[in-house]
Amino acid sequence: PLEIDASKPVAAASPIHYGLMTEEINFCYDGGLYAELIRNRSFQDDKESPAHWSAIGTAEIGIDDGVPFNEVIPISLRLEAKAPGDGLGNEGYWGIPVHPSTTYLARLQVKGGEGFSGSLKVAIVSNDGTTEFASAATPEIGPKWQYVNVELATAPDAPTTDQAKFAITAEKPGTCWLSVVSLFPPTWNDRPNGLRKDLMQMLVDLQPKFLRFPGGNYLEGDFIDTRFKWWETIGPITRRPGHPCPWGYRSSDGMGLMEFLLWCEDMGAEPVLGLYAGYSLKGDHIKPGKDLEPFVREALDEIEYVMGPATSRWGAQRAKDGHPEPFKLRYVEIGNEDWFDKSGSYDQRFAQFYDAIKKRHPDLKCISSIGSEQPKEKRVKSRRPDVLDEHFYRKAHEFLKMDRDYYDGFDRRGPEIFVGEWAAHETPFAPWEPPSRDAPPTPNMTAAIGDAAFMTNMEHHSDIVTMQAYAPLFVNVNGRQWRPNLIGYDAVSSYGSPSYYALRMFSTNFGGEILDATLPEDSPVYTSVTRDRSASRIFVKLVNSSEQPQTLAVTLTGVPRVAERAATEVMAAGPEATNTIDQPTAVVPVKGEIDGVKNEFEYEMPAHSIVVLKLWTL
Ligand code: AHR
Repeated sequence: PLEIDASKPVAAASPIHYGLMTEEINFCYDGGLYAELIRNRSFQDDKESPAHWSAIGTAEIGIDDGVPFNEVIPISLRLEAKAPGDGLGNEGYWGIPVHPSTTYLARLQVKGGEGFSGSLKVAIVSNDGTTEFASAATPEIGPKWQYVNVELATAPDAPTTDQAKFAITAEKPGTCWLSVVSLFPPTWNDRPNGLRKDLMQMLVDLQPKFLRFPGGNYLEGDFIDTRFKWWETIGPITRRPGHPCPWGYRSSDGMGLMEFLLWCEDMGAEPVLGLYAGYSLKGDHIKPGKDLEPFVREALDEIEYVMGPATSRWGAQRAKDGHPEPFKLRYVEIGNEDWFDKSGSYDQRFAQFYDAIKKRHPDLKCISSIGSEQPKEKRVKSRRPDVLDEHFYRKAHEFLKMDRDYYDGFDRRGPEIFVGEWAAHETPFAPWEPPSRDAPPTPNMTAAIGDAAFMTNMEHHSDIVTMQAYAPLFVNVNGRQWRPNLIGYDAVSSYGSPSYYALRMFSTNFGGEILDATLPEDSPVYTSVTRDRSASRIFVKLVNSSEQPQTLAVTLTGVPRVAERAATEVMAAGPEATNTIDQPTAVVPVKGEIDGVKNEFEYEMPAHSIVVLKLWTL
């Protein structure tokens, strides 16, 4: 039996329990959410040759450090056209996506050499160059760096394909130089330098309440010098140098601090800002005290950029960047996974950041990157963090075996718990181990069941587990460093994994009150029940981990009556079932209704299923 007691809530649920975590991994921004289509747009990926670019016709192309674009991008691309129609092409991130009736915006910086005349043709063409999907001519190119901006429109009968490249060709022979070559499709909310629409729609559909950024390892960088230097990621893209990301490729930093904040704004989510705290992945750390002071200042300036008045130094910069209104900021995280710091300096580093932040912003909550799942000796002791960030990458069956009362004993006076990264994997190896590169990029139903079981646990304790976020969020199916991931995509299409749908079922059916709900201890079913009193609704989440259907005798006490008809969402599939880029909707939740609901009723759960019952109280 499933016994639900609605007479009084066990506790109030955190209103921001469900959120998102993000970083540059698996071509998550460049080649993913950040809608830029040109790969290596500033030619800095490889000092020797223009990676991802190729010559067209008899042209010669190469990196030129003798013709800098500016002091931030101190090189350019030299194009020597020997015949009319010579030029260069960009392969994009595994193809340039072509869609019918679509207008793309191409922007480039160009400078003609001595005697160069005529215009350039900018086009999206098939890989073999025989079909032109869209093209436009630039104005006449002069001898000084000039900014060129043209629109490329595809016809209504254009195909949807990623078998295409971006081409720039010269009208006449001659030499010119190029920099910051950019191509954008239409973006979410039509924002310039914006985000990919299909991926944003999938995120908005999750109704996330917060976004933790910019990482993850991406915050720390491999080395101190390759940390996320937020001030180098703001302003025009022509002034962003980019930097090596710890996941093996270079980040353009087109996805910068302002883009993260606008991303939050566009989802109605609040930022949870990760602050670099003096430790980088390969083991370097800054000694607490005087040496750490400049890094604390960096963090304070970053906070000022986000939430300071437009009259403050960095608030004024934010206004100049297009957002005079301060953003709402309530949570900052000090570092990431600092339990890896073998020097044991985190306690002191945390304290130094904490004191400086609290002095200026007493209301800001400081998150420790070491949580209670880590050994005691590693945790912060000299201060009382407001929140602890805990990471759970576990095998699916480990989540099933986890103590259902795991969070019962946590002190409700705090610290709050933020499960800042978590995911179930169905493979015998861990997500970061090399064999995971050969497994599918996204998880299957076995993992989704583990995820859902863990979510019942977190949700049932969402008075103390105030925030949680699955990680990683995204994967480009053509290039990855980690699995499993929530959402997969290539250049033209995207799909949600069964875990994505499990999360959506949970996050969009969540009430403000946690109700007491009990099942027999040996039941293969997991549950969490919340109530939205103002909407007279009770959400019953059920996860059947067994291969057999389960008949549940449901008893509901503490409410006089419930409506006979209830809405349902059911996702049921075999353990191996999954979604892929070619079969994106093999496993999805199905909406329905059931009749005969009373204070005592029976519900039959399909085998291996995740269910939400939405009951109406009368
Ligand atoms: O989510 C992938 C990585 O897992 C994150 O960058 C890091 O914080 C964790 O180890």
